[in-house]
Amino acid sequence: MEFAIEIKNLVKKYQNKTAVDDVSFSVKRGEFFGFLGPNGAGKTSTINALTGIGQFQGGEIKVFGFDVVKDYREARRKIGLSPQEFNIDAFVSPRDTLYYVGGFFGMPKKERVKRADSVLRELGFGHEADLPFRALSGGFKRRVMLARAMMHNPDILILDEPTAGADVELRHGLWKILSDLNKKGKTILLTTHYLEEAERLCDRIGIIYNGKLVALESKHELIKDGKSIEEHYLNLTTNGATQ
Ligand SMILES: Nc1ncnc2c1ncn2[C@@H]1O[C@H](COP(=O)(O)OP(=O)(O)O)[C@@H](O)[C@H]1O
Ligand SMILES: [Mg+2]
Repeated sequence: MEFAIEIKNLVKKYQNKTAVDDVSFSVKRGEFFGFLGPNGAGKTSTINALTGIGQFQGGEIKVFGFDVVKDYREARRKIGLSPQEFNIDAFVSPRDTLYYVGGFFGMPKKERVKRADSVLRELGFGHEADLPFRALSGGFKRRVMLARAMMHNPDILILDEPTAGADVELRHGLWKILSDLNKKGKTILLTTHYLEEAERLCDRIGIIYNGKLVALESKHELIKDGKSIEEHYLNLTTNGATQ
């Protein structure tokens, strides 16, 4: 079986705080993986290690067999990241943001223009594609983050709270987009606080709490006792669960 992501014994520390404590899990090619946990559990720290943004103190991470430290360039190319916080220039339009990213990944101009057009269309942009980022609605701002992650056509999308703060209608729109992308073959790792979202979209779920992985199961396995994901989540992420 081919793994898109393999994380083995990951340890991430900030000074004396251990944010990720010996975490291991894999994501299969084509899988929709939900990475859940309360604020401060270690999700973003894991994602930073996986995408080469942050260094880590222990363990090994491979992306389609490429080591994220030793084979950084190859590993990074396989991944499109939509980070938790908006980090897009407020005065730049979605289209120009995509051109810039295309340039970063070494796409020739013609290809950049074509690819940006196709991604913008796929994500439902019309005239919004040419407005400055700051003039966009919250939903389109989130879509710009997703479009930017998709621009170099990576096999894996890492989406760190892509629907945070979105209203119900907008969230449903994003669900449709994400589920279509997964059907077209993208491997997706998603973090979210909306458990309904995880229940709807994800094949398999990992729950992290206090830096430790406290659950790693298929969605169906997790809920086969008749309890909802939310009930399991609350049982696993309240004090004492890891002792
Ligand atoms: N740059 C940093 N410096 C110090 N501590 C950090 C830093 N980033 C995260 N942390 C701490 O690491 C822990 C995990 O944070 P994070 O990975 O952001 O969790 P999550 O994404 O699950 O909310 C938290 O206790 C957080 O306060
Ligand atoms: Mg986070």
